[in-house]
Amino acid sequence: MLKDIAKSVWANAYAPYSKFKVGVAIKTIDGSVFSGVNVENAAYPEGTCAEAAAIAAMCAAGQREIVEVYVIADCKEPVPPCGGCRQKLAEFSKPDVPVTMATIAGKEKTIVVSDLLPGSFSKNFFTNK
Ligand code: THU
Repeated sequence: MLKDIAKSVWANAYAPYSKFKVGVAIKTIDGSVFSGVNVENAAYPEGTCAEAAAIAAMCAAGQREIVEVYVIADCKEPVPPCGGCRQKLAEFSKPDVPVTMATIAGKEKTIVVSDLLPGSFSKNFFTNK
């Protein structure tokens, strides 16, 4: 289950500066699951988001199509992916792919990729010139 995987990797996030750990699990069209955590750095801009880590693992395995996303953090309200991660998720997802945002305490909210990033820039613009 994506929830269990995201929650278990969440604990391993490296976030000593923000103290805000994020865990992500994504499922691809072949049923594989990839996970990621945020990894911060003393040189702050070098930190990376959990979504980016999960997507990198997915690409390394040769997968390119996301069918479901689960993002979790220890906050009061379900954690929304940042703007950059919305663009990264949209790159590999159809508009109707569900993204569940969650809290460690168990609160969840699910929305689809096209609602996360309406009117997004995409590779379609390269071909529809
Ligand atoms: N963070 C993520 O990993 N994903 C998001 O979509 C939101 C923000 C991380 C980045 C940084 O390490 C910490 O949360 C605080 O911004």
